[in-house]
Amino acid sequence: MTAAVQRREGFASRLGVLTATLGSAVGLGNIWKFPYMTGDGGGAAFLLIYLLATLLVGLPIMIGEIMLGRSARSNAVGTWKRLAPGSHWYLVGAAGVLAAFLIMAFYTDVVGWVFTFIVKAASGELNAVDPKVGEAAFGAMVSNPWHSLFWQWGVLILVGSILLGGVAKGIEKTTKILMPVLFIMLLAVCVRSLMLPGAGEGLSFLFKPDFSKVTVDVVLNAMGLAFFKLSIGMGTMMTYGSYFRDDADIPFVTARVMLADLLVSLLAGIAIFPAVFSYGFTPAAGPGLLFMTMPAVFSSLPFGQFFMTMFFLLTGVATIGAMLSLFEVPVALFAGSGLLGRKPAVIVTTIALAVFGVPATLSFSTMADVTLFGKNAFDLYDFLSSNVILPVGGICICLYTGWIWGRERAQEALSNAGTLANAALVRVWHPLVCFVTPLLVVLVLLRGLKVF
Ligand code: PFF
Repeated sequence: MTAAVQRREGFASRLGVLTATLGSAVGLGNIWKFPYMTGDGGGAAFLLIYLLATLLVGLPIMIGEIMLGRSARSNAVGTWKRLAPGSHWYLVGAAGVLAAFLIMAFYTDVVGWVFTFIVKAASGELNAVDPKVGEAAFGAMVSNPWHSLFWQWGVLILVGSILLGGVAKGIEKTTKILMPVLFIMLLAVCVRSLMLPGAGEGLSFLFKPDFSKVTVDVVLNAMGLAFFKLSIGMGTMMTYGSYFRDDADIPFVTARVMLADLLVSLLAGIAIFPAVFSYGFTPAAGPGLLFMTMPAVFSSLPFGQFFMTMFFLLTGVATIGAMLSLFEVPVALFAGSGLLGRKPAVIVTTIALAVFGVPATLSFSTMADVTLFGKNAFDLYDFLSSNVILPVGGICICLYTGWIWGRERAQEALSNAGTLANAALVRVWHPLVCFVTPLLVVLVLLRGLKVF
């Protein structure tokens, strides 16, 4: 290890490694995207495909990506430059930085909606059993351009301020507190939701598969969600991997993060679908699903206003760790390149994102008619990142770790130089990243993009 490598800041404790990684995975993907995509994709049928995508695609790539980051101890681009000098692999990292910008642009917009709903819920404005109230509040909020931009920029400033604190103090400390709070709050909301009269119907939608809704797009979406959920394919896990301690057991941390993340998604589904059926919403209501259903659920319950505020607060809390990790990709790159110090890198990233986010945020108002390939900026940013750049990045990680590194080198890295008994695991992981995972991703990707 060089002196420069040793001086780099990283996660200070084992628990910090786990909570920061989990903090990156858990976010809007669980509470906002997973429920509406499950609603669109036929409930349990989607859930099943998503599960397969997570196990066969997500997990192997996540292990490989973290392993590369820890080995190189560098950012999304620097890792490739250090491991494969003089080659073009660094372009994978560059595409990842672009994906981080695309995701942050629409992500911070939705987090702005969440923050708006925290205030609305706390003020009592959403206290109405009539489902139309949440629907109207959502419509009014997204169609007001200045309001949306104001909240998005507020979110960016909040995340930028946390990151100014650095890796251990900023990211690690924040996620260590937020993760347990999130679990407890979500459990409480589930208990409330299960007490609703339509709970049974909602649960069977979530757990009884109906394959008639499954199309190629649904499969592509499920795979895209697996990438988005685990924050893989774009250098986030590589960057976080570079902060992993030398004694961290990468496959063990990864498996725990995947399981905990899945649990949060399922809990979010259990919180939302009983309400959808109980109040006669259509499960395929799209990105507004969460915002339209929750007010009606809570308003009909005792202490509804309190629980509703808590629910949106919980969602807001869940997004912070994910946003920190997205932000960290360009910040680590700028700071690592030596062009900027860490603090100026945070400030430059915040300003760049404030500009980049404008088209996504205005997609529901002034720029609603501006489309490319039939998609507005919000949908296009989401599609290009989750369904194109992340899967392509994932294929590259598979090819590099499986074919160029090969089993022995990977075993050395994943067993922490032979100190961990991960040999059997590497024997399963290696054929997956060599053949199964990249082939599945290529097939779904090409079919989804209508190449065949
Ligand atoms: N995994 C996060 C979520 O599910 O909300 C989103 C995300 C974070 C995607 C970080 C990509 C990323 F690099």
